[in-house]
Amino acid sequence: MRNDESLPPQGRLRGAIARLTSSLRAQLFAWVVLTLIGAICINLYLSFRSADITADLITDHTLLASARVIAEAVHVDPGGTVQVDIPPAALEMFDTGYGDRVFYQVVTAWGNLIAGYPGLPQPRRQQVGEDAVFRSDYVRLMLLNHPIVGLGEDSTISVTVAVTHNSQYAMRRRLWLSDFAKQLGLVLIAGLVTIVGLQRGLAPVLRLRDAVRERGRQRLDPLEPDMVQSELRPLVHALNDHMERVQNQMAAQRRFVSNAAHQLRTPLALISTQASVAARENDNARRDEALQALRSSTRQVTRLASQLLTLSRAEPGSRRPRNDTIDLVATARRVLETLAEEALRHDIDLGLEAGDAPVHVEGDGLMLREMLVNLVDNALRYTPAGGRVTVGVGRNGDDALLWVEDSGPGIPEAERAQVFERFYRIIGTEPEGSGLGLAIVREVVDGAGGSVTLGDAAEGGLLVTVKLPAV
Ligand SMILES: Nc1ncnc2c1ncn2[C@@H]1O[C@H](COP(=O)(O)OP(=O)(O)OP(=O)(O)O)[C@@H](O)[C@H]1O
Ligand SMILES: [Mg+2]
Repeated sequence: MRNDESLPPQGRLRGAIARLTSSLRAQLFAWVVLTLIGAICINLYLSFRSADITADLITDHTLLASARVIAEAVHVDPGGTVQVDIPPAALEMFDTGYGDRVFYQVVTAWGNLIAGYPGLPQPRRQQVGEDAVFRSDYVRLMLLNHPIVGLGEDSTISVTVAVTHNSQYAMRRRLWLSDFAKQLGLVLIAGLVTIVGLQRGLAPVLRLRDAVRERGRQRLDPLEPDMVQSELRPLVHALNDHMERVQNQMAAQRRFVSNAAHQLRTPLALISTQASVAARENDNARRDEALQALRSSTRQVTRLASQLLTLSRAEPGSRRPRNDTIDLVATARRVLETLAEEALRHDIDLGLEAGDAPVHVEGDGLMLREMLVNLVDNALRYTPAGGRVTVGVGRNGDDALLWVEDSGPGIPEAERAQVFERFYRIIGTEPEGSGLGLAIVREVVDGAGGSVTLGDAAEGGLLVTVKLPAV
């Protein structure tokens, strides 16, 4: 686990943010609570609008009632003059303790101001509340046209009442705050329920984590899928499959090490015996014989060691993958030059069958060469003297083909799959050899994305065909 203490504060903050954003719990919590907060913000805006409308309506009602009381107080005196004595109740109904200022105006149909404040703005429609500014105060206005008996033809007066917004705003705030408190409570409850739900929902995952963590290095038996929810069971199955693969690989590795040790032990024991015999022997001819045998055993051990090394290099992940572009014709030519002496010693006619054009493949040049060396080495080794070995290179569509055929005994069909296994040798084959050559061939070909097949050569021997993607 990384230790954040060693990081500068900025890095620590970044680490904490990265941990938070990658946390399933934080993500689910954010999705639920942020969605809820979004919905509540919209709701709060709507409830603010509705509180506003309600407060307007109530104010308008009071304004209309006040205008009506004032209009009722208008009368025509016996001299024909219009009079009004504003009843105190008409203005007192606005005294709600918020220090609102009230303005009014009574005007005849022909425009005479009978009472009130000159210059009070006039609403466009009567009996409908309206917002306006009067003497730098924001006010709510209401107009009422009222008929007056005894005033002649145009017997109406207009009463306008205006009130500042203090009480209306207070009412709106109160209506809205009670809604706000309810919704805040709702978010808190939803948040708590989400946390509890997440805790409960994630508990099986944490149990699974602990179960995996508590296992020792060697414990690879399957985990119980029922310990987590159904959605997560495929993950447990995948984990179990992976552990099974690791288990098989570990078993194969153990087998391989024990086989290798076994293969090394036999020639090493021989070397020891042959060395003792040579040391004890006084007869020159017999000593030479023992030394000869000693040399042969040493060669065998050296061969085994170098084959083991090549195989380990050919395994995936053991070397940095190299993508050289290799000309198979040139490679084959060089390999044949190296092995020409060996062919001569075995009295074998070693030849190359290839056109002048290069045949390019992509892959690890060194390993591809090792593959070809092993194939030709097999052909030379298992073909009796006087025989013939041919290496061929060509193209077939998008494939580069490399084949090695010999006039030896070939490999029976039944054993063609097994000879690729590590340390597998056909019974009765000459004793020198470690059984790793064809395993190396298969690793190299797999690594280069190709395939290798065994077949019958025209001359009765073995035909090995390697197919690689050409470039
Ligand atoms: N060209 C061939 N003709 C006949 N038999 C072959 C041929 N090539 C391989 N074999 C058989 O397949 C077996 C496996 O070959 P492989 O190259 O893997 O191992 P090896 O040759 O025994 O040992 P080494 O690791 O030294 O190459 C051989 O032991 C041999 O019996
Ligand atoms: Mg071999």
